[in-house]
Amino acid sequence: MNHLDPQRHVRGESQYLDDVPTQQGTLYAAVFESPLAHGVLTSLDVSAALAAPGVARVLTAANIPGHNQIGGIVPDEPLLAHGHVHFRGQPVALVLARTARQAHAALRLIHIEIAPLPIITDPRVAAAQGELIVPPRTFKLGDSAAAWAACAHVFGGVAESGGQEHLYIETQGAYAFPTEMGGVRIISSTQGPTAVQRHAAHVLGLGMHQVEVDVTRLGGGFGGKEDQATPWGCLAALGAFLTRKPVKLVLDRMADMRMTGKRHPYSSDFKIGLDADLKIVAYEVTFYQNAGAAADLSPAVLERTLFHATNAYFIPNVTATAYSCRTNLPPNTAFRGFGGPQGMFVMEAAIAKAAEELGVPASAIQRRNLLRENDLFSYRQPAELCHAEQAWDTAARQYDLAGLRAEVDQFNQTNQLLKKGLAVMPICFGISFTKTPMNQARALVHIYSDGSVGISTGAVEMGQGVNTKIAHVAARTLGISLDRVKVETTNTTRVANTSPSAASATADLNGKATEMACTALRERLLAHASTEYTLNYEGLEIRNEQVLAAGVPAGTDWEKLVSSAFWKRVALTENAHYATPDLHFDAATNTGHPFAYHVYGTAFTSVTVDCLRGTYTVDALRIAHDFGQSFNEVIDRGQIEGGAVQGIGWMTMEEISYNAEGRLLSNSLNSYKIPDIYAAPAVLDVHFLDTPGHPKAILRAKAVGEPPLMYGIGAYFALRDAVRAFQGHTALPFSAPMTPEKVLVSLYPEFAHEPTLSLREGTTTQSVL
Ligand code: MTE
Ligand code: HPA
Ligand code: MOS
Repeated sequence: MNHLDPQRHVRGESQYLDDVPTQQGTLYAAVFESPLAHGVLTSLDVSAALAAPGVARVLTAANIPGHNQIGGIVPDEPLLAHGHVHFRGQPVALVLARTARQAHAALRLIHIEIAPLPIITDPRVAAAQGELIVPPRTFKLGDSAAAWAACAHVFGGVAESGGQEHLYIETQGAYAFPTEMGGVRIISSTQGPTAVQRHAAHVLGLGMHQVEVDVTRLGGGFGGKEDQATPWGCLAALGAFLTRKPVKLVLDRMADMRMTGKRHPYSSDFKIGLDADLKIVAYEVTFYQNAGAAADLSPAVLERTLFHATNAYFIPNVTATAYSCRTNLPPNTAFRGFGGPQGMFVMEAAIAKAAEELGVPASAIQRRNLLRENDLFSYRQPAELCHAEQAWDTAARQYDLAGLRAEVDQFNQTNQLLKKGLAVMPICFGISFTKTPMNQARALVHIYSDGSVGISTGAVEMGQGVNTKIAHVAARTLGISLDRVKVETTNTTRVANTSPSAASATADLNGKATEMACTALRERLLAHASTEYTLNYEGLEIRNEQVLAAGVPAGTDWEKLVSSAFWKRVALTENAHYATPDLHFDAATNTGHPFAYHVYGTAFTSVTVDCLRGTYTVDALRIAHDFGQSFNEVIDRGQIEGGAVQGIGWMTMEEISYNAEGRLLSNSLNSYKIPDIYAAPAVLDVHFLDTPGHPKAILRAKAVGEPPLMYGIGAYFALRDAVRAFQGHTALPFSAPMTPEKVLVSLYPEFAHEPTLSLREGTTTQSVL
């Protein structure tokens, strides 16, 4: 079965937020942003803007009828700045005008005065000044301090990884409508409809029942719309609430890039100890997370960094500490992998460091330390149904790891100015929201009297194919054709109190709820069939739309069965609730069983570096991945390919750059480069591992959304491998992304004292290059 959406996408038939037909009287909103990253707001004069052509209202914090607060985990984020500004791009006022052009023109007439305060952009500086979002967290297994003495080798270092712009194709936005009795209806491009609903109600001083949020689909979210669709939903709702007119707010690309948070950059210290057999005995790591100016999801992201600090390895003595550091940048947020990639990058850097110092291949250390069945993670959950070694060994066989290595070495011996590199990247990723209560979902299934089926869940379709998967689960459970099933929009009035579509768990959670509801409906219909047609209930089933009794056609089909049930007043609607069983986690001791299961895999990345120019190609990415029992190989393969290339982008070319004043320099696609089809590996093989899947995964098909991003980390280490082949193994910093500029400087360490050739004020990527 294919993905249901792409045909509609390529024909331009899919409706995104900005395609919703405009209602008469609609006002267009534009956001006035803070021009400074930190300061006291001493004066704000909107009178000239208010007098501008077409302008209906200009709203500031003073106009908020409820609470000026949208912080999800920590209440530290006003919807509109009040008193202080904390980052450049922070929303300060909202202009409502008859046209979008008039609204934007009026922004220039707003007069703001800010008394500047010191600006912090570096997480280590923030930590040194005690600017922490939440108290630090430490995950601990064994006793690393005592273990160093037993190590034959101990190495330490620093590793830095950069931010990442989500670059969903559809920018952030919302369209809000006033409803009867003072409520609002919001069409939002959000992964978290309930988050938008809850915060809009809070901002407007309404009950949640007065706010309806509806989502058809997103043109991508990637975590960027888990929490950060909320401000735009709330601002549009505020406008609609106050003017009683529809209000539409859609950010243009550059505003979206300036105003929204990104993947968290991390700066980390590591120390790794090994015995004489390359067994990792101890690992200590301290993470400094650049959270930006408000908590947003940073504490949860920080926690997942700790959960994944040892990647796919068993290490008996681990101390991992993490600081969430407040800086004057837009609040950073969820991004595919949710802190996991940042933790895993440092682990791989530590292994690379040890390998380089010892003169052994990193793969020897990696393979030696892979997780085995029942090994403990630092949070005390055992690795159950562990496929780490199977993934590695299958990939090594399937793709001939020894042969690939020999090819690279051979090439490098005979070539001077081109060098090849190879890296192995094993992954292990935990599936479930790490906050246990979020692991719940509901499905509302209607069977209409003509036999067609409508399904509502909390799942948001953002390109990952969850609607196709849910439709498949329903059709399969009911024994009917997929054509009869429609997955409805995600709507807070139909399905309430939903978790965001995130944590790769959307299909598992909402799919299980759908399966439960459809199973209940099927059993009810079969019970009706047994009385109506005097058939033995045992052995009754629906297959290919036919009712079978003990495998034999019973003379009735789906449509007749449904119709007859309706006339006999059998309920044809079911609402099911699913909560992942057996999850628990104690945040006081940082131990428990937070994940339903883990996903495993191994990737081989091959690169070629042009050692004159510092440019490179990622030639091949070969992956053996644990899908469990995939029931949609097209979608699942697509998730691996897309996720891996997105990870390669993060590790190689995507460079977020802020200046010391907190101004985003990489503020458009001219200065921020993402991988295109030419940057994608020419060879991208995905091997489906033969694994049983997991009973807590939907139809035993494991979650697939985020894990592949971390295969991209291999590109960094493959480039490092190639660079070292050229420059004779001089020490290199661990600093991602490995842009062509950084590769060039690494190739010629004699230039390493030069200031980095990253983006500077008044330059574009092109002029720097
Ligand atoms: N794939 C597409 N095409 N678009 C997206 O926005 N988001 C990713 C991943 N794959 C995303 C995607 C992220 S961050 C997550 S958490 C999962 O999809 C969410 O969907 P799932 O839970 O259904 O896997
Ligand atoms: N993953 C993604 N999103 C989340 C999580 C998580 O573990 N927890 C809260 N939001
Ligand atoms: Mo994904 S970062 O959990 O939206």
